[in-house]
Parts: sequence; C-alpha cells; structure tokens
Amino acid sequence: MEIIRDVQEMQRRCGDLRRQGKRIAFVPTMGYLHEGHLSLLREGRRQGDVLALSIFVNPIQFGAGEDFEAYPRDLERDCELARREGVDLVFNPKRDDLYPEGFATHVTVSGLTETLCGESRPGHFQGVTTVVCKLFNIIGPDVALFGRKDFQQLAVIQRMARDLDLAVEIRGMPIVREADGLAMSSRNVYLGPAERNQALALVDSLRLARRLVVSGARRAAAVLDAVEQRIRREPLAEIDYIRICHQETLQEMEEVTPDSVLLLAVRFGKTRLIDNHVLFEELNP
Ligand code: PAF
Repeated sequence: MEIIRDVQEMQRRCGDLRRQGKRIAFVPTMGYLHEGHLSLLREGRRQGDVLALSIFVNPIQFGAGEDFEAYPRDLERDCELARREGVDLVFNPKRDDLYPEGFATHVTVSGLTETLCGESRPGHFQGVTTVVCKLFNIIGPDVALFGRKDFQQLAVIQRMARDLDLAVEIRGMPIVREADGLAMSSRNVYLGPAERNQALALVDSLRLARRLVVSGARRAAAVLDAVEQRIRREPLAEIDYIRICHQETLQEMEEVTPDSVLLLAVRFGKTRLIDNHVLFEELNP
C-alpha cells in the first residue's frame, strides 16, 4: 500500500494506472475509519483493479463554530485498517496543496443543497462537492463509493456527476449500524453515555415509521407525528428536522410512496446525528 501526500504525484500515479487499463475504485473519507467505511472499501475492492482511499478532513465543508478542529483523526490506525482491506493507494493531501493561496473556484449544486442539512449547515454541501470534484479530477476513478447514511450528500454528488458529465459511476452503499442499531459515524465518539443511549431513539423511530408503513399508513404527517413523539421522549434530543422526502428531488411528500425516504437530524448535546430510511425497504433489527 502506498501513501501519497502530493497532489501531482497522486494524479500522475492514477493516470499511469488508467493508461495500463486498470479500473480504479475510490472511497473518499475524512478518516477515523469505522465499519461503515470498511464496507465501502470491501465493495471497492470487488469493483476495481485498484482501490484508492482518500483521507482528508476538508476544512471548507465545516461552518464557523462547527467541529473542524475537534474532528477525530488517527492516520496511523486508518492506514492499518486500509492495509487490511487491501487498499492500494491512500491519498492524504495537505490542506495547502488542495487549497493553495488564492483558491477561488467552487462547485455548487443548487436546489438539492438548500434543504434539510443545507438549511442548518449553509455552505456545507458546496464544500463537499468542491472537494469531491477535485478528488475525482486528481484520481479519475471509474467508480466511487459513498454511504447512504449521508443520504443528501449522496443525492447531491449523484446530481453533480450527472450535471457535469463526470465519467464516474457513483454507488450508494447501505447504512452500517452498531449492534444496537445506532448508525455508524465518526462523530459517535463525541457522545457521552446518556447521549449515546438516548440516540437510539433515532433508529427506534425509523423502525416505528417502517412498522406504520407496513401496516398501511400512507399519510406522511401521521408518520412524522409518531416519529417526532418517539424522539421527544428523550430529554437530551433537540430535533433539527424530521421529514419525508422524495429520494431524488428531496422535495417533501404528503403521501408515503416507494420513492419516499424518512430523514432525521437530531442533536444530542453538542453532537448532531443524522439517519434515514427508505420507508418501503426492510429495516433489519
Ligand atoms: O462523507 C464524508 O466523509 C465527506 O463529506 C467526504 C465525501 C469525504 C468529502 O469530504
């Protein structure tokens, strides 16, 4: 496994591999890898001749007062995990190389980014699409893998790839959960014991919504009401949003249909967690 920090070296290395006819699978991350990331790497290993992983805590997707400085980092452990998953290339660029003095170009996907997390984190998705577009340009992957936990991020990146004719297949992969159901996230380490316990209300409320839909509920307002009541039982929970939206447009829906996804963002203390479920799909315990 090679660890490359230099942008031009990574670009050259990936260009050589593509000229040799190698198919590159790419998993972009901000590091502090967990089972969710590892599931992306395993699928990437199946998809590509070469598996590339990027580790970069992207400053421009964090707003003022967000957790950029505190974001957990452990490059050594990440590289060990990457090695075990058969990663060929780890790209760990320096901030100043990706964003040199005078950097002034951003990628914006309008519409999709103005709702849900985009409302409470202005500028966040522009930071994500800008860095992902840069990483795609450096690496030139044939396929890139993203977790469906960040449902809106996946929708935004799919739209960017479509709108900008990027020659990369974007694959969304299933949410990976802890044994008790909490969706895996690098930010889970911030949770204190009481917050961690109460955060289970998220998956519990998704299961409740799924049960309602299985038993015939179709009015989004009724499902949302039940979800909200369940989350409000937890004294530490502060709801940011609970919405049922169309999977592609992210427009709110009044009826639950096979296109509907239930999306949640809830704070427990200082930690903001997101989770979601496509209501017509199974939700395993
Ligand atoms: O999902 C993430 O970890 C980040 O948003 C990403 C896609 C690596 C861009 O920094």
